[in-house]
Amino acid sequence: MSTAPVLSMPLVSGVPRQKAAPSPRPSPWSRWRAHFERHRARPLPPLEGAGAEVVARLSPPQLEALARSLAILQIGETGEGRIVGVVATCDMAGIDDDYRVALALFIREEGRHAHIVARLVRALGGELLTTTWTEWAFVRVRRLAGVRVKLLAMFAAEVVGAGLYGALAACLPPGATRAALEQIARDEHGHLRFHRRFFAIHAPRGWRRALFLAGFVPLAYAAALVVLWDHRRTLALLGISRLRMAARLHALVREGAR
Ligand SMILES: [Fe+2]
Ligand SMILES: [Fe+2]
Repeated sequence: MSTAPVLSMPLVSGVPRQKAAPSPRPSPWSRWRAHFERHRARPLPPLEGAGAEVVARLSPPQLEALARSLAILQIGETGEGRIVGVVATCDMAGIDDDYRVALALFIREEGRHAHIVARLVRALGGELLTTTWTEWAFVRVRRLAGVRVKLLAMFAAEVVGAGLYGALAACLPPGATRAALEQIARDEHGHLRFHRRFFAIHAPRGWRRALFLAGFVPLAYAAALVVLWDHRRTLALLGISRLRMAARLHALVREGAR
């Protein structure tokens, strides 16, 4: 029996023409990988002297509350690195090498936020926290859960970051502190879109979509309620209406669920 390969194209001028291999479909994650690579190349925002402009403007109780809120947010920016190892060996719809790189860079960006916010907390005279009840519960849930639920929990947490950093920044005088928080708030909006894209690919329609929404929506609203409760003193002292904050978080949950 002949072992010659079957040629799918006819001979032309005596030279067999091999059928060109189909070009691989571009990854839906290449754009996100490039996005996070661009972000990685950014220098840190100028933090020299940050905090002084805020200390000069806010009262001691306002400062203390702001520093505490930032310290709570700072804790939430740390400790998500395990997911990179989990996803590295995970084979499921929506995950490819570009996604794995983008996710690793996303985690790195959260680490950058942790570094910046830690500096701001100290500059405002506050102290960093080692844990909070919400972080304790969040980490336990993530550790018990499979990869989809871990990603879902991270997605829900972006609602908090995108909503709260922006609201706090808007209360501050122009300067390094406000600019740094505004940059983080913009990053968090990007993170929301990044995770939304993942679940749009992984759970585009049908029962998968329904299951995603059944998980994401309650989790994101729970995270929003925790923010309103945990940061109630800061919101009150900085004159941020809880109703407006709730409306802002509601809009972000809806954006995530689109
Ligand atoms: Fe962050
Ligand atoms: Fe984030």
